Amino acid sequence: MTNIATKYLKDYQATSYLVDTIDLKFEIKDTFVIVTSKTKYQQNGASNSLELAGSAELKSVIIDGNELTDYKLADDKLSLNNLSANFTLEIVTHVDAFNNKSCMGLYASNGNLFTQCEPEGFRKITYYLDRPDVMAKFTTTIIGDKDLYPVLLSNGNKISEKTLANNQIEVIWEDPYKKPSYLFALVAGKFAFIDDTFTTKSGRKVKLEVYSEAESINQCQHCLESLKRAMEWDEKRFNLEYDLDVYMIVASGDFNMGAMENKGLNIFNTKYVLAETKTATDTDFINVEAVVGHEYFHNWTGNRVTCRDWFQLSLKEGLTVFRDQEFTADLHSRTVKRIQDVKNLRQMQFTEDASPLSHPVRPESYMEINNFYTMTVYEKGAEVVRMYQTILDKEGFNRGLALYFERHDGYAVTCEDFCKAMADANKIDLSQFMLWYSQSGTPHLAISDHYNEATKEYSITFKQSIPNNPTAKAMLIPVSIGLILDNGKNIIPDIKNHNTIVRDNEVILLLNEAENTFIFGGISEKPTPSILRGFSAPVIINYAYDEKQLYTLARHDNDSFNRWEALQSIYKTEINRIYHSESPDKFEINQNITKIISELLNDATIDPALKALSINLPAFAELSISYPNTDVKKLVGSIKRLKSAIANGLETQLLAVYKDNQTVSYDFNDAGKRALKNTLLGYLMQGNNTGKSIELVAAQYKNADNMTDKIGALSAINDIDSPVRHQLLDNFAQEYANYPLVMDKWFSLQSQSQLPDTIDNVANLLNHPSFDKENPNKLYSLVRAFTANPIYFNTDAGYNFIAEEIIRIDSFNPGVAGRIANGFSSIANYESKYQTLVKPQLQKIMAKENLSRDVYEIISKTLQ
Ligand code: PHE
Ligand code: ZN
Repeated sequence: MTNIATKYLKDYQATSYLVDTIDLKFEIKDTFVIVTSKTKYQQNGASNSLELAGSAELKSVIIDGNELTDYKLADDKLSLNNLSANFTLEIVTHVDAFNNKSCMGLYASNGNLFTQCEPEGFRKITYYLDRPDVMAKFTTTIIGDKDLYPVLLSNGNKISEKTLANNQIEVIWEDPYKKPSYLFALVAGKFAFIDDTFTTKSGRKVKLEVYSEAESINQCQHCLESLKRAMEWDEKRFNLEYDLDVYMIVASGDFNMGAMENKGLNIFNTKYVLAETKTATDTDFINVEAVVGHEYFHNWTGNRVTCRDWFQLSLKEGLTVFRDQEFTADLHSRTVKRIQDVKNLRQMQFTEDASPLSHPVRPESYMEINNFYTMTVYEKGAEVVRMYQTILDKEGFNRGLALYFERHDGYAVTCEDFCKAMADANKIDLSQFMLWYSQSGTPHLAISDHYNEATKEYSITFKQSIPNNPTAKAMLIPVSIGLILDNGKNIIPDIKNHNTIVRDNEVILLLNEAENTFIFGGISEKPTPSILRGFSAPVIINYAYDEKQLYTLARHDNDSFNRWEALQSIYKTEINRIYHSESPDKFEINQNITKIISELLNDATIDPALKALSINLPAFAELSISYPNTDVKKLVGSIKRLKSAIANGLETQLLAVYKDNQTVSYDFNDAGKRALKNTLLGYLMQGNNTGKSIELVAAQYKNADNMTDKIGALSAINDIDSPVRHQLLDNFAQEYANYPLVMDKWFSLQSQSQLPDTIDNVANLLNHPSFDKENPNKLYSLVRAFTANPIYFNTDAGYNFIAEEIIRIDSFNPGVAGRIANGFSSIANYESKYQTLVKPQLQKIMAKENLSRDVYEIISKTLQ
């Protein structure tokens, strides 16, 4: 396994031919599918040869009516030479869809057929210019048995449907919009559906349809409602309207990712379609809405304007994640959403950027593009888009977006094109901003300040650097800032520099050099700076706040994000003290912490969801990157110590607030109360009064009329060795044996447990009757989730278990195997004994015969 080529952005070349139209015909047989593609090619440049990507069984090649026998087929490429300037190519392939477990290309799930073509799945169906800068008009004919495949769907509008001989039906779909092959989709099988209509602002009536297997169709209403909300929101916020007569969403129980934005025919993981109070948590409801929004928003940002090549993936993904974040923020709580997104970024993206898999938002090379659907491309990419909005303001950003569509609708473009539209629409120079796309690593800001009593001037200096990317150039970094006096007053300072934006109540400093200093005049006393309000840039700030300043910010900052952030800094400081103390188990915590938490819980003006987030301690993953050579057990223990100290210090109050936040009968709008209540239950369970807390857990579980409270109870007791834990888990497994998505939660909880039998238990669960060793959701919830269990994954047995699973899964689903293999990358930051332990396991994976490109790339980079 050595001959895996690296592809480079700098090598980009347009294709020698372009495609006008492609007519596809799928004939579904008992054991395979016959695919006939008829493509009209047109020369593009001087070359008269063409190389088509493909790996399906090739049956025939016909050019302009003449069958070709001497074609060259090697390394999944079909080479054609001496071609005319215009020709029609007809290709027949046989696709082994029913044995395809990779969830890429054409595959079967529970007897139904689905396609997944992004990024390079189309080549598993036919031979084609399978790359995003080749855009064509697609027509799709599907022929299948009427009883087995009563529903036959593809992109665009249905133009004909008829019954043929032998109980076959034929349906023809035509998509009027040019698109790359990765947006092609086909669905065939038995489905139920629900429908509705949406009238766009210009008065066009659109049919909306959500399809799922009959037994789960009663869980689809929330998805359909979410779609309508997304369509309405995109018209209001960005003036973007839907463009076809029908919008279809189909749920699949076997899907590698969350969902896919195929033109007019989204295919979704059931996880992001099905939601109903008995089986979905409050978070599930929000996630379904967000993913439905995300895929819908792709219709403009991804489909109408697509990517020139896969290096530009963040062009569509970063932008669309930003759009779905804004959708959720506008419909629910903006502050809560921002905090959740930043927590997620820090736990998952900052760690990726501190690992051997660190890469820029626009990678410059890859072996397997499937490995680049990452936190960096998606979430950091969304932060990059957000910074344009922060710099240009909402109106300026909308102008930029409008110009982007005006210039590029119907084309495949680059990140430069996006940046240029933003710059031109606002008549500013954003060339330095492009560094956000090319430089990997998380920027650090070293901050110092000075107050001049005599001149009443306050100055603040920022030094930017990227520690794991020492040659990085200075970037354009928007830092939103406020100043707070000792009496808690927030002041809007009088700023003396050019590189600043002052709007409404906001001051934004634009850092653009290795070191920038900003001076504020008319300041009556040394203020506390509130830096990076709203998390205005994806950076790590280092400013030596003293304790008093942090408490001032936590109590008085006008910026709700930074109030939360100050509390996080207070917790981080304390965890750091515990970690470095002689005996962490006995460490006495600072009473100011319990005091401020107590105040916060009593404050009736703060909404419960925000209270829950405010008492949530920073996670192990987030903290570990600031502990070089992390002592894993010690860090986990330090977090736990702080949590139990808070639980013991405030037991009575936590209990009282827990009781105050009980809800009577289920109403989604009480989600904040449930979040707070369940967070408190988690705390109480970490205190000394275990017996009483177990009773609370049992009672909550028993009385719960919704999934959030059941999962809340199970999570609280998940690390406690008590027969009640086993009873509840057993009870849950019986009740939800027929609900695969609910069982995923059950598997996931057990793989996260800190109890000593976790490794054995997880290994045994692979053979549980509700488990399916080939289903992506199951593998993610049990196997991948285990890689996030700091105590038990980071053991000899833990590494061995995951290595064996990667080897097993790689043979049928490299995409899933690659995603699980990612879990090894964080070890590089831990104590060296862990690296010693993991190395032979990684070598064992590398030695596997026919190792996929996906896993090869991840593991070889991790080993470096
Ligand atoms: N493009 C999809 C999204 O982000 C993700 C995806 C990638 C799905 C690759 C399947 C395969 O919306
Ligand atoms: Zn996307």
